[in-house]
Amino acid sequence: MRISELDTPAIVIDLDIMERNLQRVAAYAREHGLELKPHTKTHKIPQLARRQMDLGAAGVTVAKTGEAEVMLEASPKELFVAYPVIGRKKLLRLVEVARKTKITVAIDSLFAARQLSDAAREHQVEIGILVEADVGLNRMGVTPGEPLLDLGRQVARLPWVQLRGITFYPGHVKSSGEESEQQLNDLSSLVQEMTSDWKKAGLPLEIVSGGSTPALFSSHRIKGLTEIRPGTYIFNDRNTWNMGACDVSDCAASIVTTVVSTARPRQMIIDGGSKTFSSDRLAGSSEVHFGYIVDAPSATFTKMNEEHGFIDLRNVKKEFSVGDRVRIIPNHICVAMNLHEQVYGVRGDEVVETWKVAARGKLQ
Ligand SMILES: Cc1ncc(COP(=O)(O)O)c(C=O)c1O
Repeated sequence: MRISELDTPAIVIDLDIMERNLQRVAAYAREHGLELKPHTKTHKIPQLARRQMDLGAAGVTVAKTGEAEVMLEASPKELFVAYPVIGRKKLLRLVEVARKTKITVAIDSLFAARQLSDAAREHQVEIGILVEADVGLNRMGVTPGEPLLDLGRQVARLPWVQLRGITFYPGHVKSSGEESEQQLNDLSSLVQEMTSDWKKAGLPLEIVSGGSTPALFSSHRIKGLTEIRPGTYIFNDRNTWNMGACDVSDCAASIVTTVVSTARPRQMIIDGGSKTFSSDRLAGSSEVHFGYIVDAPSATFTKMNEEHGFIDLRNVKKEFSVGDRVRIIPNHICVAMNLHEQVYGVRGDEVVETWKVAARGKLQ
């Protein structure tokens, strides 16, 4: 089947670009002796998790228990749940996952660690723990220094769970420029301090896990890091490109839409809005556009309703008609993937794969 025969809106993945992205990061991790545990929240597809592991990834990362259940289909040797698992219902499901593969969970409270310990004892399974440190994003994680060590000591004393080390998410670190240099230097010093204090306290440090897509290729500069878990790198998106972490030629995913109205002069409406693209604005920018229009780069995707995308054509010479196809690189591919039941792998104009987005909507 050709792309032009696909019904729209549809996410298409350029397999040549995706494979290049996967190989580049696998080679980087190998070269620097970093374990790769890609975050599958971007693609949400077990077959793609399998490809990442076939290229050398040591396992995969998920955020939600439901995603962990789905990713078992890829037979990972290890699953990192980079999100606290709170509440009996989820824990009952998590222990079933733990019977099938080695799991490690990120926590930043004794409450969460105790729940894991109780569940592991009650159901006779092993669960690893990484204590999360806040290295500057101010989202999750305890403050490095005494609060981090204190939690580490308390977790180390809990039965049935294995403290394996530290995790952090450097989502605040930019990909390039002076600010990013400073952020990387600060992060490296902080990680060295944290790990040295941790070791001095006699706490186990098998894993130091970090790594996002924007700062991906600087991960080797963070001394003491053992593992990276980027997610977006498999496809990249408008935001990744906009922040200088990739080029447009590295963006593997785009959304094919159809023009459904040209009734207003110098405007067209496409058959995808916020339920197709997500409402994510361009990160770090006051400009309002919701994607890069490959077929008309000077057009602006200015507004969305649920099923309508408003494209401003005032700066565009080309004429569009109802029925035309328009391909758009979304701002944030991870959220867009969550909105689609299936996506298509393409080579040139040929659709060669269809994948069910099996972990979409797995919010629990
Ligand atoms: C805890 C955690 N680890 C890893 C990642 C992957 O980062 P990126 O999407 O920049 O590749 C994320 C992304 O949200 C995350 O929240």
